[in-house]
Parts: sequence; C-alpha cells; structure tokens
Amino acid sequence: MKTRVLTGITTTGTPHLGNFVGAIRPAVAASKRDDVDAFYFMADYHALIKSDDPARIERSRLEIAATWLAAGLDPQKVTFYRQSDIPEIPELTWFLTCVTAKGLLNRAHAYKAAVDKNTETGEDADAGITAGLYMYPVLMAADILAFNANKVPVGRDQIQHIEMARDIAQRFNHIYGREFFALPEVVIEEQVATLPGLDGRKMSKSYDNTIPLFAGGQKHLRDSIMRIVTDSRLPGEAKDPDSSSLFTIFRAFASEAESSAFRQALVDGIGWGEAKQVLFERLEVDVAPMRESYDALMARPAVIEEILREGAKKARAIAAPKIAELRDAIGLRSGTSVAPQANGAKAPAGKGGKSARFASFRDADGSFRFRLFSADGEELLLSRSFADPKAAGVVQKRIKELGSVSAVVQVQPQSLVLEIDGEQVGATPDYDGEQARDEALDRLRGALDQLAAQE
Ligand code: TRP
Repeated sequence: MKTRVLTGITTTGTPHLGNFVGAIRPAVAASKRDDVDAFYFMADYHALIKSDDPARIERSRLEIAATWLAAGLDPQKVTFYRQSDIPEIPELTWFLTCVTAKGLLNRAHAYKAAVDKNTETGEDADAGITAGLYMYPVLMAADILAFNANKVPVGRDQIQHIEMARDIAQRFNHIYGREFFALPEVVIEEQVATLPGLDGRKMSKSYDNTIPLFAGGQKHLRDSIMRIVTDSRLPGEAKDPDSSSLFTIFRAFASEAESSAFRQALVDGIGWGEAKQVLFERLEVDVAPMRESYDALMARPAVIEEILREGAKKARAIAAPKIAELRDAIGLRSGTSVAPQANGAKAPAGKGGKSARFASFRDADGSFRFRLFSADGEELLLSRSFADPKAAGVVQKRIKELGSVSAVVQVQPQSLVLEIDGEQVGATPDYDGEQARDEALDRLRGALDQLAAQE
C-alpha cells in the first residue's frame, strides 16, 4: 500500500534557500519513493488571505511551479496542481465549515496572534482581520481531506492546522456515521536544517532576510551571500563554525567531507570574504543546473500551464467522486433519489429502512423511563427509572454510542440486563427459555449496532 503524502505551498513570495532546504528538496526526494503517492499543490486560495495584489499572486504561482519542477519534481509520478483548479475544494470547505466549532477556530494561532496584536495597540480585537484568515484552517482541512491524505509534511508553525484537520474530520465522520475521512498525520522532518537568513535569524520572508534560490540569477545569489552578517573577526583569526551562518548554510548542501574541510578552514582563520566565496561556489554546484531549467520554464509559461492542467485533471479524478459521496451522505441528493426515510443512508437500518429507536415516557410514580424498540417495533429493553429526564437522556446517548461490541450484557436465566459502567441501566422482558433469550440477545445487539451507526 502506498502512503498518500500531501502538502501545499502558499503562493506568495519567491522561493528562497530556506524553502529549498526545508521543504522543496525533502518533498521532491520523498516523491521519488515507490511507497509514496505524492500530492503537491499550490495553495493559491490560501495566498489570497495574505495578499490582495493580483500581479504578485500571478507571478508567485508561476515562480513556485517552475521552482518545484526545476528542483526535480516529476509531474508524471506526482499529482502536482493548483488548489484553485479544483472546485471540489471550496465545496468541501463549506461542508466542513458547517461541522466546525467556531470556538476551534478562535483558538487558531494565526488568528489569535492577529487579535493579540490588535489588543496590544488598543484597536478593536478584530480590526483588519478577514474572515479568510479566520477560515484558513478549514480550507486547509479541505485540501487534505478531499484526497484522504495520510501524511502531511509541514513546518512546525502548521502543526496546529493539521490537528484541526483531524478534529474536523473526526467531527464529520461522527455526525454522518461513517469513516468518510482518513485522519491525516503531521510529518515534521526533523533531519532538515532550518537555515539562518542574512541577519542570522531564521530565514523567512517575514523577516525580510532571505537569500533567493533562483530569482535574480547567479549575481543576485552571490550578492546576497556577501551580505550575510558575520562577526568582526579578521582574516587569520579563528572563527567558530558552530555559530556561523555561513557554515550552517554550507552544511545543508555539502557532504560530510566537504563540511569538515570548511569547518577546518574557518578554525584556521579563513577571512569572511573568502569563506563567502567558498559558500557561493558550493551552492552553485547544486543551484546552477536547477536555475537553468527554471529559466527555461519561466520563458515558456504555457508549458507550466499544461503540466498544471494535467495535474488538476488527475486530482479531480479523485476529489470529484469523493465529493459526490459526501453530497449524498449529507442529503444533497438529486430529487429523483429521495430515500424512503430521511436517515436511510446513514444507518444500516432494519427491514423497511427503519431503525431501532427509543421511546421515553413518564411512569405512574412520576419518574422517567424509556424503552428501546427494534426496527420491527419489538420491545427490547425497559430502562430503570430516573428522577429527571436529563439523566434518562444521558443514558440513552451512552447506549447509542455503545455498539454491540462494547455493550456489557448480563445474561440472566430468562432475561438480559444492560450495564454501563457497572450500573444496570435497563432489562429485557422475560423470555420463554434460554433459546428465546439468546435469540433476543442477537436482536438487542443488532439494535445497538444500528444506533451506533446513526451516531
Ligand atoms: N498553510 C500551509 C503553509 O503556509 C500551506 C498549505 C495550504 C498546506 N494547504 C495545505 C500544507 C494543506 C499542507 C496541507 O505552509
């Protein structure tokens, strides 16, 4: 069995060395494995949350597609597409929105950070925050769940989003009574290096300290490297490789042997200018051939377009039937296929599409009880009495969740007693002999399964 690995790339900004080492290179390597079925896409709907500059969105989509292809992604092997080419994703986003707790989204880090910032500066809590930012995790859940992805490699800042996708999937599965969605697992690549940027902090477009991967060509790469901040040690003075950005970046590209040679050179007092030249030349060994294919692709956007359209076709071949199944499950069916009973599709119902059910009533002494009836209307269980209807309701809810497998049923000579947490909650009528009792046990278990399937 192949593992379906899926990840999205938000199409703002221009890919930099940190993106390459942290995301692109490991993703391309993973996509080549035979046990991996990779889905990589451009999250251009997510990009709209961050940018309202059409030219930038357009440019970034193209640059990112060209970058991934130049970095060796094989669109024949990988499903490589644009989010916005898959109409099933926004459709699923709405289905998921309707089962997502608003409180869950209130807790999302990105939204909370924006609120905190407003509060700090004395603004209205939601000032300048779009509903798009708020809904970001639901759109992301749809990206993942539309394809039943098993593994989702992301950066640490995205872990919470994957957890939310699991929550949302579970909620949907629970409400509609089936395992519609596999629960995605987050994958954090522990091995990959986080590169420092020009100023020594993590390389990130939000710090404006990036070294572009291809943009601006060889000259721009060299100029950027020359701008990396170093300490003020002079040529001839020993440098500490472990606190040097140059060494960290070098090591992310070089072999062990090359790295230890560079380490030695630093310790031996190589000047920073010369060390930067060594780093530049080592990067060029890897980057130059990729840059060449990047430039060739950027010169022919129609080729990229064609690749992405093919990718969208492959992706939709999977997402479309999935969404059709979901539409049916949630009741968005064509008028000619109306089921005889409203919840017919949810539960493996009994004869005539009916299912087991509870009936509550008030006893002569004023207490509250309920009966469980089979789909045929046979009384299977009479509950004990409860002082208030809420308590009776809670027990009904518990029974619904049990299913036959986890139900504890005490077998008496002529009857059966259902227990929850060691407490007797209801009993069957008396039966005529053991055989009748055992047959009734089967029917009781069947009813419990029907109830559980509706949950
Ligand atoms: N939000 C992710 C990021 O900024 C990108 C993304 C969008 C994504 N949809 C996704 C990642 C689905 C993994 C799965 O990095």
